[in-house]
Amino acid sequence: MDLDRYRIRREPYYRAVGKEIELFTAAWSRRMPMMLKGPTGCGKTRFIEHMAWRLGKPLITVACHEDMTASDLVGRYLLDPAGTVWHDGPLTLAVRHGAICYLDEIVEARQDTTVVIHPLTDDRRVLPLEKKNELIEAHPDFHLVISYNPGYQSVLKDLKESTKQRFAAIQFGYPEAPVEAEIVAREADLDAETAQVLVRIGQRSRNLKGHGLDEGASTRMLVQVGRLMAAGVGLEQACEATIVLPITDDPDLRDALSEIVAACS
Ligand SMILES: Nc1ncnc2c1ncn2[C@@H]1O[C@H](COP(=O)(O)OP(=O)(O)O)[C@@H](O)[C@H]1O
Ligand SMILES: [Mg+2]
Repeated sequence: MDLDRYRIRREPYYRAVGKEIELFTAAWSRRMPMMLKGPTGCGKTRFIEHMAWRLGKPLITVACHEDMTASDLVGRYLLDPAGTVWHDGPLTLAVRHGAICYLDEIVEARQDTTVVIHPLTDDRRVLPLEKKNELIEAHPDFHLVISYNPGYQSVLKDLKESTKQRFAAIQFGYPEAPVEAEIVAREADLDAETAQVLVRIGQRSRNLKGHGLDEGASTRMLVQVGRLMAAGVGLEQACEATIVLPITDDPDLRDALSEIVAACS
């Protein structure tokens, strides 16, 4: 089976912020498991899509969640007219046929689920399928990447120490203002000046972090504002729709955010 449907055909736009492309390429060449850290909406998913395209490898993404079981990752027997048939899960597909497997928001998964990746992340590079009584040796192109946002999680929902230590990490964050403006302008198809205004709003909103906000407006949110504006919505209404209302239900914080918007417009 080829993984044709997991191939990325067009270059996903990614604006490098530091040496992350070089570092990832080096880690990939040694198949070193990678962890992408940082808050939501700062480019982690876009980065891995770009890297998969750059390296010419299929990318299999799994959005991890609380109810996910090890079977959701490795596979299960399903009833079929012909009897019970084994179906490889996304992780097994990547291991068997050689893809980059991206486990997005890995902390959302329960710890007993995440231990299935352990034998893949050391020199053994194997995946035991216990129910099938099979031990798969990873394809030479198999590469494991996870995303991990330590900010929101409680200690109960953290990664096991023994899991964390298996990964090399790249830190993502909100880029410097001129770079973020370049990204927003490009992604939203917006002029440079307006993009700069949006970035200023984003930066000021981030100062509210810790004053009731988990995070300020992310790059993703600024892109969303920009897209509404490019479609003809005014600045204040676009900000209300994509930043102020989604980010908090607290009336005081909403007022504070609206004031930031008014001050920047
Ligand atoms: N460095 C970057 N280069 C290009 N686009 C970016 C970058 N950082 C953020 N973006 C934009 O922000 C959006 C959200 O980024 P995403 O990768 O989905 O965030 P994350 O996975 O970290 O939550 C992207 O769809 C893209 O429009
Ligand atoms: Mg993402």
